[in-house]
Amino acid sequence: MALMPDTSPAFIIDEQALQDSIAVLGYLRQQSDCRVLYSIKALPLTTILKSLQPFVDGFSVSSLFEAKLAHSILSPEQSIHLATPGVREDEVGEIKKICSHISCNSLSQRKAFLTSDLSLGLRINPKQSLVNDARFDPCRLHSKLGIDINKVDADMLQGIEGLHCHNVFSQQDYRALITTMTQLESQLGGYFKQLKWLNLGGGYLFKQIDNHQPFIELVQSLRKKYQLEVYIEPGKAVVNDAVSLVATVIDCFDSDGKMVAVLDTSINHNPEVFEYQRQPDILQNDLQGSYLAVLVGSSCLAGDVFGEYQFKQAIQVGDKITFINLGAYTLVKANRFNGYNLPDIYSLKSGELCCIKQYSYQQYQNQWESDKNESNRNDSGR
Ligand SMILES: Cc1ncc(COP(=O)(O)O)c(C=O)c1O
Repeated sequence: MALMPDTSPAFIIDEQALQDSIAVLGYLRQQSDCRVLYSIKALPLTTILKSLQPFVDGFSVSSLFEAKLAHSILSPEQSIHLATPGVREDEVGEIKKICSHISCNSLSQRKAFLTSDLSLGLRINPKQSLVNDARFDPCRLHSKLGIDINKVDADMLQGIEGLHCHNVFSQQDYRALITTMTQLESQLGGYFKQLKWLNLGGGYLFKQIDNHQPFIELVQSLRKKYQLEVYIEPGKAVVNDAVSLVATVIDCFDSDGKMVAVLDTSINHNPEVFEYQRQPDILQNDLQGSYLAVLVGSSCLAGDVFGEYQFKQAIQVGDKITFINLGAYTLVKANRFNGYNLPDIYSLKSGELCCIKQYSYQQYQNQWESDKNESNRNDSGR
């Protein structure tokens, strides 16, 4: 039987699964001579960043805070690559000091960073939609992500050392990558020799891809033809299957003919369930099971519902539910809406579970207290 944490709800980080991700990335790196960055937006827990640090060439970040966190973990020879549509003017100076590479999202960003020691790149929008859900499509109409490939010219590439392209999510083969790179090479290949690097972005679930040959050949060819450093910056591929969430059933009742089981977690801890209306996988779902239950969260939101599942036995108070594949974009988006605490965090290593983080009531209170205390405000007459 799977090990259960002493407390609930609890995220569990499976160190072995993380090592397996590292092994796949290590294989790609060794076979193709690509450079690997972990995209920390997926899950920036420092315990994970520290586990990954010895095996990556750097981290990719999307804000000044992420850059600072990356800087606190990486060693000086490792790189920090920033790509975001949102750089504030007052952040430019600090970003220049901390980051090694930036992929400018627009021409105004290019102008802001032109006079710096950073290796300057442009995020290119290939204007070719390869995913059929506009919510995740960087190439959607009126996109905010990257510079239109059709507008790039020699002038724009003055002082530019690299190009960046991230245009897909959760791909389980390399077809989109080959299509994208074929387009990029046919439209901008004439400039590749003057560049130092290409960043192929994230969005590929490397661990779930069986045949890596197309990737290896692509990177080898770019390196050979143009002497380019080729970066990848996966997030989800690295952490998703390394994290699960164990919750406990705290109430059960019939509602209009269906058994509803209330959990001590909620969509607060996995907001994408609600944002994208997806049903997360649970370990206990049994397709042969004849007992149905609708699993719901404990918040006041009527739509705080995980979905209907099948069980071997009738669900009851005290049962444990294990949500799986929750590493990416879950804990990082979690919140304490309704005053429900964030889950504890455990690490699973060599068959042992160890609690590495617990959030306290005091942290919740601190979040809502103003920094300036009452007496200061009274002194200033407000
Ligand atoms: C620019 C960029 N790079 C990398 C990633 C990581 O993508 P994934 O977690 O799908 O690998 C993202 C995700 O949104 C991104 O926007």
